[in-house]
Amino acid sequence: MDQDPQFQKSRRGFLGGLGATAAGLSLAQTGSARSATKPDPVITEIQDWNRYLGDGVAANPYGKPSKFEKNVVRRDVEWLTASRESSVNFTPLHALDGIITPNGLCFERHHGGSPEIDPSKHRLMINGLVDKPLVFSMDDLKRFPGRVNKVFFLECAANGGMEWKGAQLNGCQFTHGMVHNVMYTGIPLKVLLDEAGVKTNGKWVMPEGADSSAMTRSIPIEKAMQDCLVVWGMNGEALRQEQGYPLRIVVPGWEGNMWVKWLRRIEVGDQPWHHREETSKYTDLLADGRSRRFTWIMDAKSVVTNPSPQAPLTQKGPNVLSGLAWSGRGTIRRVDVTIDGGKNWQTARIDGPVLPMSLTRFYVDINWDGREMLIQSRAMDETGYVQPTKDELRKVRGLNSIYHNNGIQTWLVRSNGETENVEIS
Ligand code: MTE
Ligand code: CO
Repeated sequence: MDQDPQFQKSRRGFLGGLGATAAGLSLAQTGSARSATKPDPVITEIQDWNRYLGDGVAANPYGKPSKFEKNVVRRDVEWLTASRESSVNFTPLHALDGIITPNGLCFERHHGGSPEIDPSKHRLMINGLVDKPLVFSMDDLKRFPGRVNKVFFLECAANGGMEWKGAQLNGCQFTHGMVHNVMYTGIPLKVLLDEAGVKTNGKWVMPEGADSSAMTRSIPIEKAMQDCLVVWGMNGEALRQEQGYPLRIVVPGWEGNMWVKWLRRIEVGDQPWHHREETSKYTDLLADGRSRRFTWIMDAKSVVTNPSPQAPLTQKGPNVLSGLAWSGRGTIRRVDVTIDGGKNWQTARIDGPVLPMSLTRFYVDINWDGREMLIQSRAMDETGYVQPTKDELRKVRGLNSIYHNNGIQTWLVRSNGETENVEIS
């Protein structure tokens, strides 16, 4: 093909034409495209992938990301936990776009490791204050009428917990990556509870996991009936083992700890159980020694994912600033962004679906002249709630907290593009 004079000629003609057009436009109009005036060997030399046949269709029966996307992986912070079974890793938010988290990248939080459960040996029991205690196999659940698909974020209450006293971890993967956003397939919990018949004194439900931690939490019956789901699917396929295969409960907008994985039982009771995960853990010790309890809802929060420490700026001129916002109280109404540490704010452009209790994607197209920037984002949700600064949060909550840190994040972008986690509020 290289020898074909006709091909050579037409290619030169094409490059010349594009170069002339690009030169005639202002920077704003051309965006970040380069002007194609001199020959680029990537274009003018035939590459191997153009010369030889590619992989056959069965090379990857499941499929995997391109090997060039090396940093698109979950990572953990080695010193954070004493064991790998009761531990956490983080979603690579800086390497993703849109609103859906791919299944292989959803952060994992296990208290007793992730068990491998044979679905044919898994059951869901509904018992306690019900007229008719029930047991379902996975097949029973999949034949049950009323299946739904819903997108929700799951955020661990401890997301950002390491940042309470000041900036610590260098990357939005580590400061904000205990969140994922998935489309679930399953059945409204209400449908199953109605089948069992909740007695009039049934005011709370307690989901229980089949893992070695046998995780339990108390959920008020109103929430259970309103929008909780029992799910076996995520993003169109079966739950991943790490996310609770074969069954988990979805508790929209509420702290991730309540979303019991490997779900084997739901007990109906007349009062909360006051188990470990709602007493010694997942409570917030205030400055005066009292503790906040049952702080279920995840308040509005946002973070700029690009640029961020793991995704620094590499070029001056046009750049796309991007981030995520979410609220456990409903939809995101607005996100404001500053690049000068809060002196000036501008409203970001939201793109993609804006769904209640789901991650929401925002963008600001910037033209960077190489000056240092202090970048922040501030989310507002449909209730009018505005994401607080870290100082505002600490005024109310003191310094002892781990959970529910939704304070405004700051990134310092240096003039060489390197980006750092800092705090100015
Ligand atoms: N469910 C069981 N059975 N065991 C667990 O350790 N961890 C909880 C919750 N459900 C846990 C569980 C916590 S603290 C969180 S934040 C979420 O699951 C994490 O869900 P993920 O691993 O899908 O991100
Ligand atoms: Co958690």
